[in-house]
Amino acid sequence: MGWVNRRRDHGNLIFLDVRDRTGITQVVLDKEVSAAAHGKAETARSEYVVAVKGKVRRRGEGLGNPNMATGEIEVVATELLLLNESKTPPFSPAEEAIANEEVRLKYRYLDLRRAEMQKNFKMRHDVARAIRNYLSDEGFLEIETPFMTRSTPEGARDYLVPSRVHAGSFYALPQSPQIFKQILMISGFDKYFQIARCFRDEDLRADRQPEFTQIDLEMTFPKQETVFRVVEGFLKAAFATAGISLTPPFVQMTYDEAIRQYGIDKPDMRLPAMVELTDALTAELRETLKIEQKLPVLGFVIPEAGGLSGTQKRGLVEEIRTTFGECGLDFLDVARLKTNEAFAPLAATIEARMAGGAADLLVVITPKLGTPEKWNYDPQWIYKRVGGLRLQLAQKFAEKHKRFEKTGTEADFKFLWVTDFPMYEWDEEAKVWNAAHHPFTSPHEEDIKAGRLVNDKGAVRALAYDIVLNGTELGSGSIRIHRQDVQAEIFRSLGMTDAEAKERFGFFLDALEYGTPPHGGIALGLDRIVMILAGATSLREVIAFPKTAKAIDLMVDAPTPVSEQQMKELSLRTVVRS
Ligand code: AMO
Repeated sequence: MGWVNRRRDHGNLIFLDVRDRTGITQVVLDKEVSAAAHGKAETARSEYVVAVKGKVRRRGEGLGNPNMATGEIEVVATELLLLNESKTPPFSPAEEAIANEEVRLKYRYLDLRRAEMQKNFKMRHDVARAIRNYLSDEGFLEIETPFMTRSTPEGARDYLVPSRVHAGSFYALPQSPQIFKQILMISGFDKYFQIARCFRDEDLRADRQPEFTQIDLEMTFPKQETVFRVVEGFLKAAFATAGISLTPPFVQMTYDEAIRQYGIDKPDMRLPAMVELTDALTAELRETLKIEQKLPVLGFVIPEAGGLSGTQKRGLVEEIRTTFGECGLDFLDVARLKTNEAFAPLAATIEARMAGGAADLLVVITPKLGTPEKWNYDPQWIYKRVGGLRLQLAQKFAEKHKRFEKTGTEADFKFLWVTDFPMYEWDEEAKVWNAAHHPFTSPHEEDIKAGRLVNDKGAVRALAYDIVLNGTELGSGSIRIHRQDVQAEIFRSLGMTDAEAKERFGFFLDALEYGTPPHGGIALGLDRIVMILAGATSLREVIAFPKTAKAIDLMVDAPTPVSEQQMKELSLRTVVRS
């Protein structure tokens, strides 16, 4: 039984490729074997649902299809039933790539029939199952936490659910199970996990959906490393289901190192790091080249992207100037530097440190005099901008460079732990300090002792860590605050009055006073793991019924206004502001 994937009519012989979840099988309807079945096959069309009875036989010499798992055989039908018809679909599920994503999403049921999508969801199932089994075997308990709850701060806006019974009051859908999982630790559950749906009203991107799934876990008395080993263990089990054998432990680096070497807190380790060239330029040389004295000079190599023509180079310089233009950055041509006697030693240092060959593109960015103010308050700014350019150019030349080519081995997947994140993040617009991870993250003990929570927020490090894969943040976690006084202090340091903290998190502050054990955990995006493993570039390829970038479900057409009656029951009135 299955769907007609394709039908080929050769007169007395009709071939139906019949498809189900496991693949495609060729069915032959031979008029001489069964005229009745053959007659029905004449009316069958793509996507009709059919039942076939017949005999399996080896295909004739030279007629096999080596690209098909069932390519060596075919079924000679003695009976055919047409179980259901199908309108002509807007696109054929037999097609490999369908350009118009809106049509795919509107007719998602047809899109999901495509072999690639069936493969992705099988993979998603296998990954989730492997993780669930691994964590269960390690003694973690899966415990569900509520969807209808209070706001859990993870930096996005909440989706709200109005209460009918309590007119004017709202539940919030959880941005994560964060507070509940911490409460479960206070309750003595020791090791918790949940494959949990989370909801966040935020700007959407290819790797962000308004509802998504986390592998969320928490444990009592852990060191950071304890959490790392658990995550490495379940990722190894998950990747094994796709035939990829990982060899943890994964590389670790601090946030500061990541910024200095890659200009970003989620480095793509498939590409070489940036290179610091600051010391290679003497004060005089900086003077001559009009380079800002106080700021770093950075370079990077884009492998296999060299050999550009003069025009291409000029185009690239223009492009870089568009990125850096207003900041007065410039592009330094190493080859040209070399030909100038005064700069030859500098050129030699650059080449030695950047270890690039003739086939590679070497870029050195020099901050010109007259830099903008921003650089003074955030010294990391230049690292971030140059790191951003490195990624931008890597993308631009991605086809050239073999590092992004899939080998089907561990080499395609560069995992990394980034540790010691800053505790606070300065919001320039609102002029306030926000929690960089979330306000339940523990600062380093010595930063608390040194009074930095009050005096020097920018320098406070958190016991927070991320797991990164190929430049994507897969997960974030931290060792939590387990002392009520420290938690209250952190709320204060984020500009919350004690009354506000009590109003929002009173229940939690109370709970912390009843013997809270040290605890910590992490949450990884299941959708992101599967996306990268499947080689997809958008979460929509691995979420069965996703939303568009405008947070719309095109198939069911949500969100929609609701009836007057429903609004009345909920004591709501809509005021549409333009
Ligand atoms: P965080 O907010 O960093 O941490 O989220 C953890 C992971 O969840 C995934 N993720 C998303 N995936 C798809 N769409 C989204 N909109 C989206 N937002 C987040 C990412 C991310 O790394 N409670 C903390 C975890 C903890 O401290 O234990 C938390 O939610 O892969």
